[in-house]
Amino acid sequence: MTKTDAPAQTSGLAGVIAGKSSIGFIDGKQGILRYRGYDIHELAEKSSFEETVFLLWNGELPSRAELADFTTFLASQREVPAPILEFIQNAPSDANPMGLLRTAVSALGQYDADAEDMSDAANKRKAGRLTAQLATLVAAIERCRQGLEPVAPDAALGHAANYLFMLRGERPDATESRALDVCLVLHADHGFNASTFSAKVTSATLSDMHSAITSAVATLKGPLHGGANQRVREMLDDIGSADRVPEWVESKLAKKERIMGFGHRVYKVEDPRARHLRAGAEALSDKGNPALLDISSRLVDVVNEAKGLQVNVDFWSASLYSYLGLDPLSFPAIFALSRISGWTTHVMEQYADNKLIRPRAEYVGPGPREYVAVDDRA
Ligand code: COA
Repeated sequence: MTKTDAPAQTSGLAGVIAGKSSIGFIDGKQGILRYRGYDIHELAEKSSFEETVFLLWNGELPSRAELADFTTFLASQREVPAPILEFIQNAPSDANPMGLLRTAVSALGQYDADAEDMSDAANKRKAGRLTAQLATLVAAIERCRQGLEPVAPDAALGHAANYLFMLRGERPDATESRALDVCLVLHADHGFNASTFSAKVTSATLSDMHSAITSAVATLKGPLHGGANQRVREMLDDIGSADRVPEWVESKLAKKERIMGFGHRVYKVEDPRARHLRAGAEALSDKGNPALLDISSRLVDVVNEAKGLQVNVDFWSASLYSYLGLDPLSFPAIFALSRISGWTTHVMEQYADNKLIRPRAEYVGPGPREYVAVDDRA
């Protein structure tokens, strides 16, 4: 076996500092998450998605007038070109929602007047359009999967409330809008997670923002990232009742299978976002099956005792989204609805101080060999 002279490597880049960023701070041992220096607990309790996006993109919280202007700007960018809506309407009824979203986001680039303009101003406009349009796409994908017509956005509603409106065709109540708004704040950014890192790698080649965001959506699709809360919901259904939890967990761990919604590459204590998602799920629990919360609470205790694992962001969001009436297949797309704000921020940060991202591999294949002509091979 021939090895390259590569420097030390770690499996999955775990623990590797892959660059500098002034966007988010995470301390996995103490369970701290901050956006631009602001603690996630304060943002979850006091901020809104629009304010959080402004903070991420501009580095500072907006004044009241700036927030009003920004909210109006985002709401004005929600329209999606008709051919893209037609593509969604004509897609196979069993198409994967994240697969559809990936293609639709890529297609948006073909209709964007700023598509190939790499100026800061154009990138900010594209970030705004992508953030606003992604919600329209996700709602349209879900409506069409249910055999319904897409609903046009309502500019009078905030980002979270408008999403639920476009999904249902009727305005949500204040508790529902606020619960989703908090989810969007909590999911907005999380350092160099897999999808954000994909966006960075793509933008570091100086490819355009739509290409970078398409990479991010494709990466978020996987069950070890954005697909985890969909699997959490399937797991809760599979368990069925709280009294079955110990036996179910024992059998999973005996088979060395993963329990979805537990464990995290960075957090070694409870994910700081989890408590707000749990509170949101509890606030909405009269809107759905209360067993989801009973099973979840029991799982937290049993998995922690058996394996010392804590819940991650996907655990409680599965129940919360269920109580909002969202289909489990659409859960990863709801994640994208928020994370688009973090992705676009990281893409802009990458462009501002760019260096191609190109690591090396440790070669573990065969050593040098003689080429054998095809007719002489055994
Ligand atoms: N269920 C059961 N065991 C788990 C686990 C889980 N969800 N997460 C981690 N572990 C165990 C591993 O089996 C391993 O145990 P071992 O040392 O006895 O073999 C140990 O914890 C370390 O796991 P590892 O895969 O090295 O950690 P990681 O940092 O690579 O994994 C995740 C991080 C998120 C991929 C992993 O925790 C996971 O698969 N979780 C479930 C999927 C999920 O919820 N994803 C959303 C993340 S926000």
